[in-house]
Amino acid sequence: MNILITGGAGYIGSHAVRKAATAGHSVVVIDNLSYGHRQAVPGMVLFYQVDLKETDRIEEILRKHKIEAVMHFAALISVGESVQKPLLYYRNNTAGAMSLLEAMERAGVMRFVFSSTAATYGEPEEVPIFETTKQSPINPYGHSKLFVEQILKDIAAAQPQFGFIAFRYFNVAGATADGLIGEDHRPETHLIPNVLYAAMGKRENITVFGTDYPTADGTCVRDYVHVDDLVAAHVIGIEKLRAGEGLFYNLGIGRGYSVKEIIDASQKASGKEIPVIFGARREGDPAELYADSAKARSELGWQPQFTDVERVIASAWNWHSAHPNGYGD
Ligand code: UFG
Repeated sequence: MNILITGGAGYIGSHAVRKAATAGHSVVVIDNLSYGHRQAVPGMVLFYQVDLKETDRIEEILRKHKIEAVMHFAALISVGESVQKPLLYYRNNTAGAMSLLEAMERAGVMRFVFSSTAATYGEPEEVPIFETTKQSPINPYGHSKLFVEQILKDIAAAQPQFGFIAFRYFNVAGATADGLIGEDHRPETHLIPNVLYAAMGKRENITVFGTDYPTADGTCVRDYVHVDDLVAAHVIGIEKLRAGEGLFYNLGIGRGYSVKEIIDASQKASGKEIPVIFGARREGDPAELYADSAKARSELGWQPQFTDVERVIASAWNWHSAHPNGYGD
């Protein structure tokens, strides 16, 4: 299948490019390189430096390469920044997706896989979180993605040939086994890379944000899914997707780990002592988030290979320790 991957130079997108290409698909990447790394895209994959708002250019690329399906990863991802700069998030994540969808409509491309997020659930009323759990985002990032979910439902209702999957990601981590690509966000806000930076001495320590949550050890609990497992679901999904379908799946392994457990597992995976500071809560962090992922497993036949967080962290350590400066300066 001819697949356009947006954000293919980013962390998750670059893993998806390799997974889709390995599965035999013909992949074209667009990325504006505002955060992505050109080196993350293999040389033999066609690459265009294009922004999502360039509807006409995207239409042209879709037509030129006879694209049959789009995987849409390009987005801003920082919850805290979205609270400070809501318009930036709605412009990039919501209006950006609309521009892409318009280009697809014009070019007659009818299959779409969307990166949604567990942040659309906000502070959930229940854990594990099911796809049917009430969605009620608590920040502009979550809203910017939930709006796109609604837009997709509306397009599908109006256009019977259109089919889409929205994957709601939990905490994505790790790096691919050959160590060639990995996570390099600037600035980095995520727990696992920052814990590993502390292990490498790239930061002095790691601060645990809050120790008084109503969880077993008082620190926040999250569901860490390996990036290669996550993108595998996308490839299975795009191959199975049929006209008229509108599908929603949680992607998490279905088990939560606390911040303290992540630090302990990181010490084991890296073999390094990690200096820890116990600090105040970070605003907007729900106590406990983990997925029920039975739907993706049963309907897609998705089988995550990384069910032990220490292996996820070991794969991240493999990348970070070999690339202390990520993709370089
Ligand atoms: N944390 C720390 N110290 C740090 C960084 C994080 O204690 O230096 C804690 C956070 O408070 C949180 C947990 O580690 O409890 C995980 O934090 P991350 O920043 O790694 O990830 P989040 O759970 O906040 O967010 C992730 C994605 C978002 C997405 C969300 C969905 O980064 O894009 O999951 O649940 F919206």
